[in-house]
Amino acid sequence: MIRSLLLLAPAIYAAYYFNVHIQVQDVATPVLLPWINHLAGYFQSAQEAISIPVATDTTLQPEIKPFTRHIVAVGDLHGDYPNALRVLQFSGVVDEKGDWTGDVDFFVQTGDIIDRGDDTIKLFAWMDQLRAQATSTGGVVLSHLGNHEWMNAIGDWRYVYPTELKTFGTVEARQKMLSSGVIGSSWAANYTVASRLPLHPSLGPPNTPYPPQHALHLEKDSSEFGSDQDRLEDYETSHLQEHELEAGVLSHSALSFVHGGLSPTYPNLQPFPAKINELGTSLLRKLQRRKQPPPHPPSPYPGLPPDATREEHMLYDANGPLWYRGWALDNEEKACQDVEEVLKKTGTRRMIMGHTPNFHNVVARCDGKIIIIDTGISHAYGGALSSLSIHYTLTPIVDSERPENVGKKQRWIEREVVSALYVDRQEIIADEEREVVGDFAGY
Ligand SMILES: *[C@@H]1O[C@H](CO)[C@@H](O)[C@H](O)[C@H]1NC(C)=O
Repeated sequence: MIRSLLLLAPAIYAAYYFNVHIQVQDVATPVLLPWINHLAGYFQSAQEAISIPVATDTTLQPEIKPFTRHIVAVGDLHGDYPNALRVLQFSGVVDEKGDWTGDVDFFVQTGDIIDRGDDTIKLFAWMDQLRAQATSTGGVVLSHLGNHEWMNAIGDWRYVYPTELKTFGTVEARQKMLSSGVIGSSWAANYTVASRLPLHPSLGPPNTPYPPQHALHLEKDSSEFGSDQDRLEDYETSHLQEHELEAGVLSHSALSFVHGGLSPTYPNLQPFPAKINELGTSLLRKLQRRKQPPPHPPSPYPGLPPDATREEHMLYDANGPLWYRGWALDNEEKACQDVEEVLKKTGTRRMIMGHTPNFHNVVARCDGKIIIIDTGISHAYGGALSSLSIHYTLTPIVDSERPENVGKKQRWIEREVVSALYVDRQEIIADEEREVVGDFAGY
């Protein structure tokens, strides 16, 4: 702050002098340039004189700076705006008026905003507002469709409160709003089924597919054409590439988010999350564009559209990412064994999901590799108000004995602190630290 004020000062002074001299002589610019430079120089040295202790370090190695990222995630909200507001407030995402604070880098909601409460319209409008406000401060909101959003899109309205329906006016008005109207359009444009959130920007923006696309092309090319020898060489190249990927020390420094869970036997995990989201986009389009069927009940369950593909059916079935409950229900041994393969396939180190509530606390299993954040926040359940907070830091190791610690082989401490936040307390789920070597400066 002081720094930027000091930087502005010469400009203000220059403008002042400029005006004064313009009145005395018309060809002011060439005459004044030395003055302006002189003043700028004066203020620069004054600034350096003030900030010497900080400046020495950063001027020596301006490119090697610590990196921090703060992520907050919340689970099922089910039509309760006041409780959602409280959670986002004590998590630092919004202020008391519900506006984005700018204090978090990513806010993630894992779906099931709709049903079991009256605040559907308000909550989705608020999410759009936060998404826009976040963008203006360099933050990002990641929104997901839960099984309840999908149920409503299908016409399965079993959990719609009559009082909630009144906030839309009529059945037809609600159908319209959830298909071609403001809520439905935002679902199509701003919501996904799954996300992959890299902890460090060297892995790319959110939802950068895993495995990286150049590796996939290599594999594809090798099977499509060329002689056996070519194929072998290509295979070796792609194999090497894969090996390098595995060796990429931050390659799995990422989190996955989904509503239900990523089953180990779900066939469309890769590329993650691109394949799942492609299916979500195409299925939602079919649902929103069909003539809206009369809702169930009292009408019969409409089901997926007749032109839904096998893969789209699998997206929505019990083993798919919207409904799967294995990570909450399987025994410890099976869950902790299965999770490794899914993390490997999705290029992540933890998976975070809602859907299966525990009304007392966030559930962390297998050293925090599985985190289930649905605590029944809505008054419909009366569960615990909670969120998940992740603080990630990558800090350069300053080693005055080894000044060669620059360039491609910097040493860093990677730390990730994952905690569950409640109204009255914070509980650490994981606090992990390791040393990594690589060129992670410049992000
Ligand atoms: C997507 O989100 C942005 C930001 O919240 C919003 O302005 C926009 O209207 C949304 N898109 C649609 C199609 O609703």
